[in-house]
Amino acid sequence: MECSTKVFVEGALGVKAHMSQAVGCLIITFQADNIKNAKKLTGHLGALNTATYGAIAKAIEQGDLEPQAGSTLMLNATDAWAKLGLKAERLLLVCTDADLKTLASAKSGQQFSKWLTAGLKALIASSAKDALWVFTQLPTKDGLSQARLLVQLAREQLYKFGARHPQFKTKPAEKAPKFKKLFVASNAKNNKDLQKALAEGLAIANGMDLTKDLGNLPPNICTPTYLGQTAKKLAKDYGFKVQVLGRKEIESLKMGAFLAVTQGATTPPQFIVIQHQGATTKEAPTVLVGKGITFDTGGISLKPGEGMDEMKYDMCGAASVIGTMRAIGELKLKKNVIAVIPTCENMPSGEATRPGDIVTSMSGQTIEILNTDAEGRLILCDALTYVERFKPAAVIDVATLTGACVIALGGVHTGLFSDNDELAEKLLTAGKYSLDTVWRMPLDSAYQEQLKSNFADMANIGGRPAGSVTAACFLARYTEKYTWAHLDIAGTAWKSGAAKGATGRPVPLLVNYLLA
Ligand code: BES
Ligand code: MN
Ligand code: ZN
Repeated sequence: MECSTKVFVEGALGVKAHMSQAVGCLIITFQADNIKNAKKLTGHLGALNTATYGAIAKAIEQGDLEPQAGSTLMLNATDAWAKLGLKAERLLLVCTDADLKTLASAKSGQQFSKWLTAGLKALIASSAKDALWVFTQLPTKDGLSQARLLVQLAREQLYKFGARHPQFKTKPAEKAPKFKKLFVASNAKNNKDLQKALAEGLAIANGMDLTKDLGNLPPNICTPTYLGQTAKKLAKDYGFKVQVLGRKEIESLKMGAFLAVTQGATTPPQFIVIQHQGATTKEAPTVLVGKGITFDTGGISLKPGEGMDEMKYDMCGAASVIGTMRAIGELKLKKNVIAVIPTCENMPSGEATRPGDIVTSMSGQTIEILNTDAEGRLILCDALTYVERFKPAAVIDVATLTGACVIALGGVHTGLFSDNDELAEKLLTAGKYSLDTVWRMPLDSAYQEQLKSNFADMANIGGRPAGSVTAACFLARYTEKYTWAHLDIAGTAWKSGAAKGATGRPVPLLVNYLLA
C-alpha cells in the first residue's frame, strides 16, 4: 500500500474539494452527535447527504448507521451522485468518539483504535483500490501521531501471511489485497509534517510486516542461520554494518551461558550485530537486544506437547529488533542504533545441558541451570555483557521471556522492567502514542533473594512466585554498567487460537521511542 497526502486549500473549497476526487472510496469521520437527528445533517454530512440524494439521512432513519463510536456505513455510488459533484465510487462514513484530544490517556487510545479499525475493516472489505481519508483531527501534534497510526492500522488490516508466502499451501487461499493507495486529506499548512507522519507510519508498518513474517515462518525455515541472512540482506538494503558470528567466535567470546543453551541442537547458533550509524561516531548508541530462540522445546526440562508449536515465536524479540532496524533504516534516522541478537534453538539431546549443570557466563558470573527451559535469560545475559563495549546511552532488551508475564498482563500490555525512571517514562509514553502499550513492573532487589543457589553465583530460576520479575532480576545482574530496560513480550508478540499469528509488537513502541 502506498500512501500520500492530498493538499486542499483550507476554507475556500472545503467539502466540495473532497467530493470532487475520483477515488475508490471517500471516507468521512464525524462524532455521534452529528447524526442523532437525520433531518438536521450539517457541514460535510449535510453536503454529502444532498449529493447522495438523501441516502445518508435514509440510512440513519433505517437504523443502518448508529450514533455510536465504531459504527460505519458503506454506500456504493450511483451514476446520479457525480452530477451533484460526488465523484468517489464509494462513500464510507465512520462514527468516531466525542472529541479525541490526546492519545496520552489509555482510554482514549483504545477508543481511537476501535473506531479507526472499524473504518479500515469496512474499507478493506470493499474492492476499493484507493481511498481518500478526510482526517479531521489534524494538524495538532497528537493529530500527526494519529495520522501515523492511521497508516499503521491500515497496513495491519492488509497483512496476510498466506498471500506473502504462498509456498506453504498447495492451493493458496489468501489473495494479495486489492487496496493499493491511501490518500489523507490535508491543508497546505501542515502538509510537510503530515507527509512525514505518513512516511513514519509506512516505515513502522514495513518493519512490523518483516517482524510478523519472521515470527510466522515455520521453525524449520526461520532458523538462526535464516535470521543471520535476513540481517545481512537488511544491511545491504539500508547501509548498515553487520556481523554474524558463528559457534567458534561465540566460544572465543566465552559466552558460556549462551553456549549451554545451543549445546543440544544440531542447528548452528548465530550472534548477530547490526549497526546503524545515523549520527557522528561520538554519539553514544541506543542498543536493542532481541531474544532469538527459533524454537524452544524447553530442552531436557521439556515442555508439554500441547501448543508447543507456538514456541516457534520464541524469536519474536529478535524479529522485532530486526523490524525496528528496517524502519529506522527506511527513515534514515539521525541516531546511532545497534541491534544485537543471540539466536539458537533450545533442544533436548544426549549432548544437551542437564538441570544442575553449572556454567560460566561471559561476565564471569557462574550460573546453576536448574531448569533448561529458562533459556532466554541465559542467551540474553551474555549478549547484555557483550554490549558493554558500545558504551551505550541506553540498552533495551526485548524477549518472549516468561509465561508468568502472560499470566500477569495477558495480551494487552508488554511488561516493562527498568531501574531508570526516565527511560521507563519515555517507553511508557512511546507505548501510548503508538497504541503498543507497556506496563511497568517491579524490579526491587528484594526479589533477587529467589535466585540464590547453593552451588553457583546464582540459579537461573526463582520459583513460581513473581516469575517475570525474577527473570528480569536475573538480567539486572548483567546490566549494571549502563542504563537498561527489559521488555517481556511473551503475551504481546503473537496471538493464539483461530487468529494465530505474530502481532509485529513492539516495533511501533520502539520506533516511536527512537523517533521521540
Ligand atoms: N519462551 C518461554 C516463555 C514463554 C512461555 C513465552 C509461554 C510465551 C508463552 C521461556 O523460555 C520459558 O520457557 N520460560 C519458563 C521459565 C520457567 C522455567 C522459570 C516459563 O515461563 O515457564
Ligand atoms: Mn523456555
Ligand atoms: Zn523461551
